[in-house]
Amino acid sequence: MSLKRRKFLLFGITLGGIGVAGLAHQGLSKNHLPQQSFKVETSEFLSANQEGILEPLPKKDVRIVVISDLNSQYGATTYEPQVDKAIAMIPGWEPDLVLCGGDMIAGQKRSLSKGQITAMWAAFDEHISAPLRQVGIPFGFTIGNHDGSGAIVKGEQVFAGERELASKYWNSHDPGLNFGDRGNFPFYYSFQQKGIFYLVWDASNYLISSQQLAWVEKTLQSKEAQQAKMRIAIGHMPLYPVAIGRNKVGEYLADGDKLRSLLERYNVHTYISGHHHAYYPGKRGKLELLHTGALGSGPRQLINSKIPPRNTITIVDIDLDSASTRYTTYDMKTLAVINIHSLPRLIVWDKNWVLRRDIQVENLTQSEKESIN
Ligand SMILES: [Fe+2]
Repeated sequence: MSLKRRKFLLFGITLGGIGVAGLAHQGLSKNHLPQQSFKVETSEFLSANQEGILEPLPKKDVRIVVISDLNSQYGATTYEPQVDKAIAMIPGWEPDLVLCGGDMIAGQKRSLSKGQITAMWAAFDEHISAPLRQVGIPFGFTIGNHDGSGAIVKGEQVFAGERELASKYWNSHDPGLNFGDRGNFPFYYSFQQKGIFYLVWDASNYLISSQQLAWVEKTLQSKEAQQAKMRIAIGHMPLYPVAIGRNKVGEYLADGDKLRSLLERYNVHTYISGHHHAYYPGKRGKLELLHTGALGSGPRQLINSKIPPRNTITIVDIDLDSASTRYTTYDMKTLAVINIHSLPRLIVWDKNWVLRRDIQVENLTQSEKESIN
């Protein structure tokens, strides 16, 4: 089957009954859907024009599809429909890599049995990992608090059993990555692809150990990291809070400024995180901060925004020579493309703040400047 034909079928599976005319009203620009398809219903559209597939702008040097927070309720072995829909759509976008910000299963509960956790990883494999593996798309990921929390109480790993099962799953299912250091895989590790160096740290808990930070520094200093055209870091918790209900200590990394300066020192371009379930393309200092939305259950509202919670998926297209990134983020239920200008220019909480990535500090209004000082 040709790729175009495959994409065409995938679109049919995933869009279901959503009319294309409806999509046009939900914010899709003509760059994303050819003009001639705006007036037709899905079925006619599918049979009439396979080039009418909902697509982001053309690929650049590297395309990454970023997903995060896929899980449903504790113990679930099913995923919400938009998760399956997204996985079915991903091959049509022809990414070089899928990156997942964690919370792939729904653990972090001590009453869950070993059998239940194992069944959740099997369900993850069936719904997410295997379909991507079968079409040869590598899967980079970071462990979330629900996959194998690194929380430590009185010197003991609280979820050691869950971490063991996460490790067992990932060490028996090849994610297709070109590993650098995988000594602590799947918790912290590095890999490279198409000129980009990826550093994955274990931010499944709000504290990152000094031992791990020493590894981060050593890894980012390495020739492989520094000679790459770009460096991207990924971890489950963000450096700063962006979502309502996640804006309390323990729900974002401690010492965000210190961690940011570590990443900046070694020229990391972007830190990708999950956990807050609210899409926010941010920036602070020299570091871009891609806060991913939840693909699975429990999307959240951004601080300083009235936009209702929504499930999202983000396509990152990268131009290596200019070291620039372009995001195309879809509301996964309506397939509308999210306009960055609809998002808050600035998110401030307590002493933390993050800028929307197209805003410069010097362009802030006087009152915005006062809010971050
Ligand atoms: Fe989480």
